Amino acid sequence: MKYNITQTIKYIGVDDTDLDLFESQYIIPNGVSYNSYIIIDQKIAIMDSVDSRKYDEWAANVANALEGRTPDYLIVQHMEPDHSGSLSRIATLYPKMKIVASERAIKMLTQFFYECDLLDRTIAVKEGDTLALGTHILQFYMAPMVHWPEVMVTYEQSEKILFSADAWGKFGALCHDEEWACEARRYYFNICGKYGQPVQTLLKKAKALDIAHICPLHGPILSDNLSYYIGLYDTWSRYESEAKGVFIAYASIHGGTAVAAHKFADMLKERGVEKVSIMDLCRDDMAEAVEDAFKYDRMVIAASSYDASLFPPMYDFLHHLQLKGFQKRRVGIIENGSWAPCAGRVMRGMLEQMKDIEIAEPMVTILSRLKPENNEAMETLADTLAK
Ligand code: FEO
Repeated sequence: MKYNITQTIKYIGVDDTDLDLFESQYIIPNGVSYNSYIIIDQKIAIMDSVDSRKYDEWAANVANALEGRTPDYLIVQHMEPDHSGSLSRIATLYPKMKIVASERAIKMLTQFFYECDLLDRTIAVKEGDTLALGTHILQFYMAPMVHWPEVMVTYEQSEKILFSADAWGKFGALCHDEEWACEARRYYFNICGKYGQPVQTLLKKAKALDIAHICPLHGPILSDNLSYYIGLYDTWSRYESEAKGVFIAYASIHGGTAVAAHKFADMLKERGVEKVSIMDLCRDDMAEAVEDAFKYDRMVIAASSYDASLFPPMYDFLHHLQLKGFQKRRVGIIENGSWAPCAGRVMRGMLEQMKDIEIAEPMVTILSRLKPENNEAMETLADTLAK
């Protein structure tokens, strides 16, 4: 057990450092934690289960924390399997334990665990309902689409703890001591990025609460300087940029577009742009590219033409941005083509489907390799984006 949050509320979660891909798509170099907590009072509540991969370790943590008692409630805040994966096994182990969840979560329970008859053990809760454990009182707040529709968060009134489900979670197992924002930002934009408005609704509810600790379902418990974490969530969920700078994302087949992208980065630096970040969409982590696109206030996309359309790594990147609700940014375009350049047309069309995107002119068109004849357009675009 890694943390005692208070005398009576303990961390019983587990680290996963050998999962290849989170949600089968995100690399997690430092793993991930599946957080779970236990509240010991006259009644005992367990806050969420963990991924089934880690059932044995988690069940041992539960038994250790119980010290011979049995749990009265399992509070299910989120039914995604990284948190509900061990639900049926722990319910079988403690047959008198009730399952407390939102109506929508209970419906999902019958989908994920159709082979178990758990329905007569469920207690459905709705917005503002309370559950007294003794001196501890749990109050439930619905948080639909942060990150699934059945999600709720739980406020423990006596010790002022917000159990926040996926909100304020991050990649990275707890055994790795690392800065919070980088992996929390990559987590946020890739997992919850589409759901800015639901996050804003949750923030309004949280604002009305006196919070001493935020206990998310991934990553560290947050206890100090909570306004910093809440402020970042406000910025991110309003789709505002967090920092001034230009993110350059390029997708190059034989290196010509890559040379142009790096040259453009140098031109921006010469013009004093606060920060220039550059990534190769063919090789760098797509989730990190999505993160940087949201982080900075300007972006440049540079890509080759391909099959009378757009080189697929750039298409994939822009499709990710569309899915995540990318908006409110100024974007420059560099296209390359050896006989009929068309990447720019496709990139522009995809950007035009996003909200409040201002395309910086001129679009630069390169024929095979960057040449002196491209200088004027490159300089003009750099001037525009450096402003
Ligand atoms: Fe950590 Fe949406 O599950």
